[in-house]
Amino acid sequence: MKVVCTEKSQVLGAKIAKALKIPLVYSQYKTFPDGELYLKTGSLDKETLLVSSTADNTSLVQLLLMIDACDTSEITLVLPYMGYARQDKRFNDGEPVSSRAVARALSSGVSRVITVNIHEPTVLSHFRVPATDISLAPEMTEWIRSLGCDEPLILAPDKGAARFAADIAKIGGWETDHLSKTRLSGEEVRIAPSAVDAKDRDIVITDDIISTGGTLATAAEMLKEAGARSVHAACVHGVFASGGFARLASSGLASVAASDTIESAASAYSAAGIIASAVRK
Ligand code: R5P
Repeated sequence: MKVVCTEKSQVLGAKIAKALKIPLVYSQYKTFPDGELYLKTGSLDKETLLVSSTADNTSLVQLLLMIDACDTSEITLVLPYMGYARQDKRFNDGEPVSSRAVARALSSGVSRVITVNIHEPTVLSHFRVPATDISLAPEMTEWIRSLGCDEPLILAPDKGAARFAADIAKIGGWETDHLSKTRLSGEEVRIAPSAVDAKDRDIVITDDIISTGGTLATAAEMLKEAGARSVHAACVHGVFASGGFARLASSGLASVAASDTIESAASAYSAAGIIASAVRK
């Protein structure tokens, strides 16, 4: 087996190859004058571990091309971050179920799929091949421990994220709770006051995705007003759309961390270990 990755997942791909002690294939990319993408991958083995987050449309097209380029081998597709997974319903007439459209397109030519903390687990059923989701909760727990906070309170910014926060809190032996969130627009979120007593607490807000940072920036402000001693933010997928990282970094948060499912300078913990373990199973 060899590891092949698309351009924006090359660091994570290299880490996974190292963890599995298998070769990493170098691929080349270019864009034609009309904007179409081109790629060429190196020599393949009988089995390919194809690693590609699809945080942007270019990565999604590269992945479709890469699946075709690797089709002489049996492909296990690792989607560390699956873009479009949040459109998991037809909210209004005429809309696509985008997660289903992407899952179906990516199923063609691969034999199994591994995702990391996919936003909505039911999306896995849209793949036409066996699909498994794995969780970065243990790695995030270790990172939170390294902050050296005194009995941190692990807070989910909404009910939907409560299960993930509870998983982290359970591993760490910490207290957990969630806040209630109302989305006012694509970028604005209001966090309603809740029963959580934030006073003098070190708080770590955990979520699967930070996109614009609106959810966590508002939560952090509210918690600081309620007297929290420190507020940290930790997520699996750091999308940081529309200046999201700067929005959070300027909002009084003590730290902002994400994994390398989307590679950036904020990547503080790696998904390589759990992906390598899932592949070995
Ligand atoms: C949504 O339910 C997700 O879990 C995140 O809370 C959301 O994607 C964060 O978006 P933003 O950073 O734009 O507030």
